[in-house]
Amino acid sequence: MLDKIKNLKEEIATLHAKNAEQVEILRIKYLSKKGLIPALFNDFRNVAPELKREIGVAINELKEYATETINNLRESFRNNDSGLSDIDLTRSASPCDLGTRHPLSLVREEIIDIFRRLGFTVAEGPEIEDDWHVFSSLNFADDHPARDMQDTFFINRHPDVLLRTHTSSVQSRVMEKTQPPIRIICPGRVYRNEAISARAHCFFHQVEALYIDKNVSFADLKQTLMYFAKEMFDADTQIRLRPSYFPFTEPSAEMDISCNICGGKGCGFCKHTGWVEILGCGMVDPNVLEACGIDSKIYSGFALGMGIERIANLKYRVNDLRLFSENDVRFLDEFVAAH
Ligand code: DAH
Repeated sequence: MLDKIKNLKEEIATLHAKNAEQVEILRIKYLSKKGLIPALFNDFRNVAPELKREIGVAINELKEYATETINNLRESFRNNDSGLSDIDLTRSASPCDLGTRHPLSLVREEIIDIFRRLGFTVAEGPEIEDDWHVFSSLNFADDHPARDMQDTFFINRHPDVLLRTHTSSVQSRVMEKTQPPIRIICPGRVYRNEAISARAHCFFHQVEALYIDKNVSFADLKQTLMYFAKEMFDADTQIRLRPSYFPFTEPSAEMDISCNICGGKGCGFCKHTGWVEILGCGMVDPNVLEACGIDSKIYSGFALGMGIERIANLKYRVNDLRLFSENDVRFLDEFVAAH
């Protein structure tokens, strides 16, 4: 009997379990009514009286030892709040769909990357702006139609709190705080009071670039535009500049690229002209430099601005602007990050 008790004790000393259920199985095996230890108490009745004392003590010690061991095992799983012990770590994971990057983010990052290689750094400004940064500092006349309620969202009809209509406002914010050389690229969301359709939206995205230094010329602007067009589309892309007007640049131009869909031969997308317009640009008007505290006799610069949706249309042929903001996963799933 003493040997039996000793063997059981050794057995219990090596007990281990992987989870709470296994601990319960051990408890039943050793301590439940029909378990091995209560069985010893039954046998105890037949023990010779002179051995009763010694064996009685041994059985009681064994019972205490088993109870303590099993309680400790149970406790080690209870302390584990995460319930991790119940998780089968060898089971294969259930499939999980990875998201894709939004096409506008992909295009924005690509534009930033191209300008970064030319030494431009990213600058940002607020979407809720004031009249000075969106219009006045940029040489907009007091009666310019863009200031009209029909084009601009004013907040609580306050004439000086509005949603920026273009990212050109970031130009004046940076120029006010920094002396040249300035070489910045400003991506961001802009707002205009337009009815939503396939071709217009009340918010969209732009990227603005600004370069101010001594002796910056129109040739620098052209070279930058050419580099951008060839990097963004392909090396055969041609550019064309048409004279235009913006209050904040003089001279101003709009840039077309050879249609990347028909290669310039003429198609429905380029209305059979072979060219598609992609951005506005020009030499920063001296009035703008002066309004922002930069000496226009010493410094000159160029600026350009483009719509990200427009570039994304050309890259991915998305012909309905609304798709960009509807979050339809069937649309979004088509874009896989290139980087
Ligand atoms: N701000 C103009 C727009 O929203 C785009 C633009 C044109 C930006 C010419 C410029 C520029 O910096 O030089 O239509």
